[in-house]
Amino acid sequence: MVAMKDKLSTDSYKGVRDFYPEEQYIQDYIFFVWEHTLESFGYEKYNASVLEPTELYRAKSGEEIVNEQTYQFIDRGDREVTLRPEMTPTVARLVAKRRRDLTLPVRWYSIPNLFRYERPQRGRLREHWQLNADMFGSTSIEADVEMIELAATILKNFGLNDTQYEIRINDLQALQQTLSEAGLNDIEAHQYRKLLDKKDKMSDFDEQAERLLGRPFTLTLAPSEAIETVIAKLHQRRIANVRFVPSLVRGFDYYTGLVFEVFSTDPTNNRSLFGGGRYDNLTSLFDDTPMPAVGFGMGDVTTRDVLETYNLLPPYKPTTAVSLCVLNDAFYDLAAELAQELRLEGLNVSLDVSGKKIGEQITKANKRGVPFIIAIGDDEAASDTFVVKHMATGVEKKCKRRKIAAFVKKATTR
Ligand code: HAM
Repeated sequence: MVAMKDKLSTDSYKGVRDFYPEEQYIQDYIFFVWEHTLESFGYEKYNASVLEPTELYRAKSGEEIVNEQTYQFIDRGDREVTLRPEMTPTVARLVAKRRRDLTLPVRWYSIPNLFRYERPQRGRLREHWQLNADMFGSTSIEADVEMIELAATILKNFGLNDTQYEIRINDLQALQQTLSEAGLNDIEAHQYRKLLDKKDKMSDFDEQAERLLGRPFTLTLAPSEAIETVIAKLHQRRIANVRFVPSLVRGFDYYTGLVFEVFSTDPTNNRSLFGGGRYDNLTSLFDDTPMPAVGFGMGDVTTRDVLETYNLLPPYKPTTAVSLCVLNDAFYDLAAELAQELRLEGLNVSLDVSGKKIGEQITKANKRGVPFIIAIGDDEAASDTFVVKHMATGVEKKCKRRKIAAFVKKATTR
């Protein structure tokens, strides 16, 4: 016998999750709301591989993510490969490749899994799934407004009300202008922006800023015209929980204009839930024709956390509608035949193959949460009539074989 210590751990790799059916159910629910909302705004779904050439992330993503947070390897053909840490460079690549064939603007969405070598903590893991919603080809402020409206609609569709979260917005172009008017050169401005990104995690922001610039500096930034327009337009669309936050920046270097971030107002989720903004230069990685873009990324981990905080997660329900239990082995053929018929009628049916006593089979199906149970024995075989039991109510209904499906469907929709 192999000693215990030689056995493998059943734990997953650090910072990633296993999805048992209960967790998969929640993830499917989150994806469903995302897909449904995005499609209701006319967005089309795309996807790509998790593998990308490493050079895709070198130029524009922001140094921290490329140097410290990517999973990289050299493949057997000596190519440098990275597991995508975000989707934006990928979608920019896709758009750039087909730019001549696309009818602009394009509205695209995807739900990729992304990999970042982070210290696992609440809201931050090494693999997460992220809704990416992006619009390419429009410089209109209407596109920026739509992104924020979309974000608010997703949260509404999850059941959040507008006191439960806040949308913070800033204008990076106005910030840039203020910094250069204050005498910061491009490098200083860039470093100051990086520092602002970490401001919430610092207790000594002012001292660090002073050390960086060699003199005291306090940022004063009034809302730009663009900010005021966006806020007014969002009010028109009945989205009032928007606030101008002059210190708001985003971690990636490619953002050029309006940026936004959504925060839960509950103190247990004190980090940003999700965010995005305008990035008008990213396709310049691939060619010289400018392609304006605006979009955001919303992670499944933070989404799940906030839904849990506000008690908005749906209770787990298996998708199986009917479990067929048999008195003994002699009834498997009949049960399988009935199962086939019910499946043809659109029901999800499982057949108990345990060979256990019928009482145990019923208990097990009930424990799994299967709503309907049919026990098959001599009487059922002889009469072709079956007792369908609705476990939640205890109601038992005698049905002729061809009436079972209709009964179950009716009882389920009630
Ligand atoms: P990001 O702010 O890095 O932006 O990520 C967006 C969201 O993804 C975060 O707010 C969070 O919900 C989730 N997220 C990020 N990293 C992790 C992690 N390690 N664990 C769990 N969740 C995480 C971007 O990635 C941009 N590319 C978004 C974008 C799309 N901008 C324009 N279009």
